[in-house]
Amino acid sequence: MSHGVPIDVARARGETSGCRDLIHFNNAGASLPTDATLRTQIEHLELEARIGGYEAHAQEQGRIDGIYHSIATMLNAAPTEIALSTSNTAAFDLFLYSLPFAAGDRILTTQSEYGANYIAYLHIAEKTGAIVEVVPNNGAGEIDVEALELMADERVKLISINHIPTNGGLVNPAAEVGRIARSHGITYLLDACQSAGQLPLDVEAIGCDALTATGRKFMRGPRGTAFLYVRQPVLETMHPAMVDHDAAHWVDGSTYELKPDAQRFEVWEKGWAGLLGFGNAVDEALGWGLPSIEARVTELADSFRERLIEEVPGALVHDLGIKKCGIVTFSLGDRNLDKLKAELQARRINVSVQPPGSALLDTMARDLPPMIRASVHIFNTHDEIDALISALLATSQPD
Ligand SMILES: Cc1ncc(COP(=O)(O)O)c(C=O)c1O
Repeated sequence: MSHGVPIDVARARGETSGCRDLIHFNNAGASLPTDATLRTQIEHLELEARIGGYEAHAQEQGRIDGIYHSIATMLNAAPTEIALSTSNTAAFDLFLYSLPFAAGDRILTTQSEYGANYIAYLHIAEKTGAIVEVVPNNGAGEIDVEALELMADERVKLISINHIPTNGGLVNPAAEVGRIARSHGITYLLDACQSAGQLPLDVEAIGCDALTATGRKFMRGPRGTAFLYVRQPVLETMHPAMVDHDAAHWVDGSTYELKPDAQRFEVWEKGWAGLLGFGNAVDEALGWGLPSIEARVTELADSFRERLIEEVPGALVHDLGIKKCGIVTFSLGDRNLDKLKAELQARRINVSVQPPGSALLDTMARDLPPMIRASVHIFNTHDEIDALISALLATSQPD
């Protein structure tokens, strides 16, 4: 991992009003935007209110085009390979449901797969007769690439995995999976919902055909924003599951022509204020440098994991993987975690409690107890980790 230039934490905090009177460890839920990202949205909403929504769109066309360029730069892709969307699930499903599955086709995925993705595979299997198969984990809890290699054959039509699962600090070996997918000519969809914004993502190095991410998590964008990347030669062969009069040109009473680029996966109407805010957040991430963000986030999370084990009686860290990220999941014996979360929130500390159904196969396979998920970003500090550790200790004492 390249470490980049160290993050100027004081600057990051200065640019983020939300972190002034709040300790936010729910960045994997929805992170805090910078003031500039917030302002970008408000200014566009004000422009819409002042001159009209369509007119504001036309006036800001250059900046709107810039959103595609910024996302493409982040991914080492072309702007024409980017479609904007409203959530990771919407983007992911658009690609997935546009693939032509037939009876007996195999879809390979991970044990740690996200609920929405896995239910969509099951739905597709129900409709088409395709078969969903889970690649086992290796000893470190990652997708086992040797097992994947053995499972890959001509009936496998899709390898679809998460880069970072919803319920842990694990980073799956996305590029090794990409090498296998490429060597067998299998379509490869990567859910980068939790890695975008905290790790560098290079679609050439990863070798995926499609990749999705949401705006609100580590990208620090607004809610209701997301993107889908589709490799140009792949998108040219695809007929999206839904097509509107923006995704395609309406030629005559019986004909339409799909757009030549990834915008064939979009619908016309969009929340441009949010998407412009998202574009700003992408530019900010590029400004810091993703290697620098990764180094900061990983260092904070590693230190938090160590301190949990050493200082908090009964804390069990459940993060797997050789390479770990900025998400820390832990249980605390039989403590009521919903109550704990509320107690922490009363102390202005945000964490989330991991619902078992968000990664049900993994919850069942590992017999996971209820877990707290604490996820860090560049504006978090070691003092804030001190405060969380102290609060965990203080709230465990009887009143
Ligand atoms: C791994 C993973 N994939 C997909 C999603 C879904 O993202 P969205 O809510 O934007 O659809 C999540 C959300 O937590 C996630 O953790």
